[in-house]
Amino acid sequence: MTYRIAPSILSADFAKLGEEVANVIAAGADWIHFDVMDNHYVPNLTIGPLVCEAIRPYTTAPIDVHLMVKPVDRIVPDFAKAGANVITFHPEASEHVDRTLGLIRDSGCQAGLVFNPATPLNWMDHVMDKLDVVLVMSVNPGFGGQSFIPGALDKLREARAKIDAYAERSGRKILLEIDGGVKVGNIAEIARAGADTFVAGSAVFGAGKDSDPQRYNSVIGELRGALAGV
Ligand code: DX5
Ligand code: ZN
Repeated sequence: MTYRIAPSILSADFAKLGEEVANVIAAGADWIHFDVMDNHYVPNLTIGPLVCEAIRPYTTAPIDVHLMVKPVDRIVPDFAKAGANVITFHPEASEHVDRTLGLIRDSGCQAGLVFNPATPLNWMDHVMDKLDVVLVMSVNPGFGGQSFIPGALDKLREARAKIDAYAERSGRKILLEIDGGVKVGNIAEIARAGADTFVAGSAVFGAGKDSDPQRYNSVIGELRGALAGV
């Protein structure tokens, strides 16, 4: 099993975002998770395509754009042009889920659906061929630093079963990502429930002292160490 660690820059120092992105990838992270909130679909306001474009030169690692916006379609090509590699969205926020997935893929990005704690997984059933990623939320979207909702573990097991059954019949692999409250202390249990891609915001960017240049290496090493025991 290949595991991916995707630090969420929502918890990074926004005054030096380029440097934060470069440092966290140098410390061993795989993806940059980029949380887009619109103060409409979720009660918070963050960053858009301009910021994606601004950080793009700081890394060659994939930028994983998590859209918490409504409507979805209008902004998709802007993120593709700004250098996004993966774009995920919440199915409730799109009028036409299949069309939005197609739009993301036609713009050259990998596409994914995001499932809130109360959103049923059957949204994915008829669009598996257009999915590259399934993202299970283990908090309600809107803020970093919330606690992991334990019910997400059963949901991951359910999603893993669907993805594996699909891989068996199609030969195509869909990634299973988890987002919210992932820490060194629970990442192994989350991996055992079936996740292969782990967003971690406060756990990574809140680690250690600002003055310690090795702090991201330490925490990413600890996350990988916990995964190695799975
Ligand atoms: C929440 C965001 C998350 C958040 C995770 O709406 O989608 O990506 O930044 O932060 P932590 O890891 O602190 O829960
Ligand atoms: Zn996110």
